[in-house]
Amino acid sequence: WEPTYEDCLNLIARVPAVAAYVYRRIYKNGQVIPLHDSLDYGGNLAHMLGFEDPQMLEVMRLYVIIHSDHEGGNVSGHAGHLVASALSDPYLSFTASVNGLAGPRHGLANQDALLWMKKIIEECGENVTTEQLKDYVWKTLNSGQVVPGYGHGVLRKVDPRYTCQREFALKHLPNDPLFQLVSKMHEVVPPILQQLGKVKNPWPNVDVHSGILLNHYGLTETRYHTVLFGVSRSLGFSSQVIWDRALGLPLERPKSVTMEWLENYCKQAAA
Ligand SMILES: CC(C)(COP(=O)(O)OP(=O)(O)OC[C@H]1O[C@@H](n2cnc3c(N)ncnc32)[C@H](O)[C@@H]1OP(=O)(O)O)[C@@H](O)C(=O)NCCC(=O)NCCS
Repeated sequence: WEPTYEDCLNLIARVPAVAAYVYRRIYKNGQVIPLHDSLDYGGNLAHMLGFEDPQMLEVMRLYVIIHSDHEGGNVSGHAGHLVASALSDPYLSFTASVNGLAGPRHGLANQDALLWMKKIIEECGENVTTEQLKDYVWKTLNSGQVVPGYGHGVLRKVDPRYTCQREFALKHLPNDPLFQLVSKMHEVVPPILQQLGKVKNPWPNVDVHSGILLNHYGLTETRYHTVLFGVSRSLGFSSQVIWDRALGLPLERPKSVTMEWLENYCKQAAA
């Protein structure tokens, strides 16, 4: 497990620099900002992206921690774990993890939520009324879409990662129009999702809030937000892979069953 440990430390250290390089190259004329020796991980990420406001450094610290991972069963956490179980090296396994973030049900939900909220403000103005918001939510649902940033595969209550971001926003950006909208959504959306009768968790998750904080401090390139999710996930991914190697966990494989097993199962279920 020691080479894995070394590789993971290397990965964790380099991913922010690579991500910042991509950001600076795409959005800031390629002017690269070297890391700052005296700054911590999250602070340095903000710094290398080009942000110096101490509050933005705090946002990035918060962001990196809450996106690192929770229980590993989510798409990106699990995808990385699966690929690493074949003894693929941490760099290649991490690419699988990051690819898992590409879907709107997972890593793109933060972008979708922010763009969705910006669209509401564009269409209804900053002082959107409760009725307008209800109509907008129903319009979204009736067009076959989900409400981004709501629901969860496992949680059955308000996501604590939403709550800590809300606490930060209440303290530092209470008048931000997008924050006011996300607060209003917290009152309006859950009863509507409950009305659908099928949504297991009608409460807000981490993704409905993260874009608002980044946007407020000037990281307005929404399509880049998921990259920061990926940087953060390197921490959770690495800790899992190091433990997997240390414990010598075997190749991971979903259980498969025969047609006979399926037939018997269905007969029993129907009986
Ligand atoms: C996260 C998510 C993928 C979990 O999916 P899940 O485990 O299948 O959730 P549920 O068991 O509650 O889903 C049951 C039904 O409710 C729907 N549902 C769940 N969350 C919903 C939402 N936010 N808006 C509308 N419908 C939703 C599902 O699409 C599913 O409908 P279907 O049976 O017609 O396919 C889902 O809640 C979702 O798509 N949320 C929006 C995207 C998002 O925020 N992702 C980030 C999660 S951290």
